[in-house]
Amino acid sequence: MIKRIVILGIESSCDDTSAAIISDGYILSNIVANQKVHQKYGGVVPELASRAHQQNIIPVVDMAIGEAGIRKEELSAICFTQGPGLLGSLLVGSSFAKSFALGMNIPLIAVNHMQGHIMAHFIKEVDNKNRHPKFPFLCLTVSGGHTQIVLVKSVEDMTVIGQTLDDAAGEAFDKSAKILGLPYPGGPLIDKYGKLGDKHKFTFGKHQVGELDFSYSGIKTSILRVVEKGVEENPNFIEENRDDLCASIQHTIIDILIKKIMKASKETGIKEIAIAGGVSANSYLRARLLELKEKYNKEVYIPKFEYCTDNAAMIAISGYYKFLDKNFYNQSITPKSRLYL
Ligand code: KG4
Ligand code: ZN
Repeated sequence: MIKRIVILGIESSCDDTSAAIISDGYILSNIVANQKVHQKYGGVVPELASRAHQQNIIPVVDMAIGEAGIRKEELSAICFTQGPGLLGSLLVGSSFAKSFALGMNIPLIAVNHMQGHIMAHFIKEVDNKNRHPKFPFLCLTVSGGHTQIVLVKSVEDMTVIGQTLDDAAGEAFDKSAKILGLPYPGGPLIDKYGKLGDKHKFTFGKHQVGELDFSYSGIKTSILRVVEKGVEENPNFIEENRDDLCASIQHTIIDILIKKIMKASKETGIKEIAIAGGVSANSYLRARLLELKEKYNKEVYIPKFEYCTDNAAMIAISGYYKFLDKNFYNQSITPKSRLYL
């Protein structure tokens, strides 16, 4: 009998502690513990994040193994996020993974978080069509820390062909939300209220970066000016225009993403387009991408909602492919806050 390959993935790069089990590419469990502690500070506090990871990691791994219905002795390998991310957070996940792999005497595998987001498209589910992009494809990777267009030629061959020169798209969402007085992370709230508003009510600056790169800092300043001017004239400006402001902000941020991915598709001749990262949970971005499929005959791939934001299933599936290649790491591996594709 052929032994199945069972991978434990661990993700702790920012403020979510997550563990997942993947067996022969199929998902068995994916547990995510969010950290609510950061909300009142309007952003992630690194020191608090590391402490919460330390508290969460054992129960989360235990739950992932329990929900998958496996025994820990069945694990073939343990993989973890090596970076990029907050160093203190990464250290918790990597130290745990290293000790566990050493104790179980099984291979250890390090995964790049951004590669993980892209590989989320390859997570298989029983009773699902399991449609995934065909190589080569373009992946718009949009999260709180990154905004990139990646040319993906294979599991291990990923090249960044365009990226933000300042703020990431998720950061632009969160900072705009903060201007409107919304709590962190504001991206999902802008999405929620934006559905109710008029996206053409307000216009914010012009995006002037060439080629396939992005810039969001000018737009953020423009949003701040519009809001400050509005409040000067009417103290209830934000409350009275909340939905229209959110819809217009969302439209501005997403429109840039769509224009750049279309440009990349034209320049490379690649029609397979995927999205990844937390911002790919955005409903307006999803709708605009489906429009590309209808209008411009592109093949569009949108991950399931739970695989968009940070999760360990994406790390486990990347680890699974590395396992097939026998791409193992020794105990001297260390996490890196900056790590490139
Ligand atoms: O990938 P992710 O979970 O963590 C990072 O690696 O950064 O992405 C988090 C980012 C946050 O900026 C959050 O506001 C944004 O993704 N986000 C959204 C939505 N859901 C999450 N932005 C817009 N609309 C959403 N529905
Ligand atoms: Zn992420």
